[in-house]
Amino acid sequence: MKKKRPGYFMIPFASFLGILVLMGLNCAEPGSPPAEAAHSETSSDLNAKEELGRLLFFDESLSSPPGQSCATCHDPKAAFANPDKSLPVSKGAIPGFYGKRNDLVVSYAAFIPKLHKDPSENIWIGGMFWDGRVNTLAEQAVLPPLTSFEMANRDRAEFLSKLRKLSYAGRFKDVFGPEALDDTDRALESFGAALEAFQRTDQFNPFSSKYDAYLRGETSLTEQESRGLALFEDEKKGNCAACHPSRKGEDGTHPLFTDWSYDNLGVPKNPENPFYLMPADINPQGKGFVDLGLGDTVKDPAENGKFRVPTLRNVTLTGPYMHNGVFKELFTVVAFYNTRDSGPWPPPEYAQNVNKDEMGDLKLMNEETEDIVAFMKTLEDGWKKEEKK
Ligand code: HEC
Ligand code: HEC
Repeated sequence: MKKKRPGYFMIPFASFLGILVLMGLNCAEPGSPPAEAAHSETSSDLNAKEELGRLLFFDESLSSPPGQSCATCHDPKAAFANPDKSLPVSKGAIPGFYGKRNDLVVSYAAFIPKLHKDPSENIWIGGMFWDGRVNTLAEQAVLPPLTSFEMANRDRAEFLSKLRKLSYAGRFKDVFGPEALDDTDRALESFGAALEAFQRTDQFNPFSSKYDAYLRGETSLTEQESRGLALFEDEKKGNCAACHPSRKGEDGTHPLFTDWSYDNLGVPKNPENPFYLMPADINPQGKGFVDLGLGDTVKDPAENGKFRVPTLRNVTLTGPYMHNGVFKELFTVVAFYNTRDSGPWPPPEYAQNVNKDEMGDLKLMNEETEDIVAFMKTLEDGWKKEEKK
């Protein structure tokens, strides 16, 4: 039986308004200090909390050894995904350390709802990361500095001493009060809140793709892009919109190309993932490692092998693809949906509960696959800017 899908736009209107209000708070702070971080975006329209978040986001002194910031793996030039496409996963600050998963875009992550069971469908929705294990941007932000294969501070105390040494440490007190850096708990809380505020600004959520312009009636799609959109939405063809919604919400909000549900698509293992070779204290299972995804988070074997539907906004910039980066090209991703069950694909990383209802044998012609790829290319932000060049 075909799994029903929740409606096109999943954010309750009230919380969306909340986000808009937060995004609207970008009013310029009088006396906003000059930009200190390298390769920053414009900072003039940020308030003091957002500006502190921006400085932290780009600060390479916060890793151990120094040299890695959030932006190393989430570069604004790549929609805040990892610009290094040579590996399926990110390198840690410590040479030779690698994570187990492909990076996610931070663009539009501000819209991810908390992990919850949808009562009508009885399926899990929301949560940050591929496996939904964290609920808010603030909770998420404190993890990379303390993760051994990311920014790799030994412990909270080492990280706190780094924060205290920042040339702009005084700003923590300006924004969060005189005790902001007094102890690790308060410091981490402030660090998370500042980063969350920055990630909610419209630098991360610009809705400036060609497709957005098309939805606003400002441009039209080419013939090939239009065919791609139709195939993307057609339940009897690509059926992609079943999980990657493409229509405006009833309130006019633009789609995020994810319903934040979870699925096991039967994605194969990626033998090129360097995580397989990590020492036993990081990867006890060695080459036998299987990523259980949501199943690990909710401790329910029925959810094993399922990963959160990623947004397709800026997907041209975010390769390689899937939780383990196994596919390098968008064409390969669509080809996989098309012929997973009829073509010579390797076996799934986790073979139980693979979704067989909505994909696997779509019977798309090669040109139709290319049309869908052409449509996905319209989802890259900054379209207008490029037009003017
Ligand atoms: C070494 C590379 C690396 C660094 C450094 C890093 N990240 Fe990430 N980030 C990742 C990877 C990989 C994932 C996906 C991991 C997963 O799902 O388990 C991710 C996921 C995220 C997500 C979740 C997005 C979503 O769709 O659920 C956010 C938000 C995020 N990172 C923000 C940050 C912030 C803020 C910092 C700095 C404090 C940071 N990251 C530092 C690699 C990195
Ligand atoms: C049943 C839900 C579902 C349907 C239908 C679906 N997808 Fe997905 N999509 C997912 C999930 C879940 C993932 C992540 C899977 C993983 O990493 O194991 C994903 C990942 C992707 C990615 C990789 C994005 C990234 O950043 O790594 C692309 C591209 C994509 N889908 C495009 C499509 C297209 C095109 C179609 C239609 C031909 C489609 N999807 C149909 C659920 C779905």
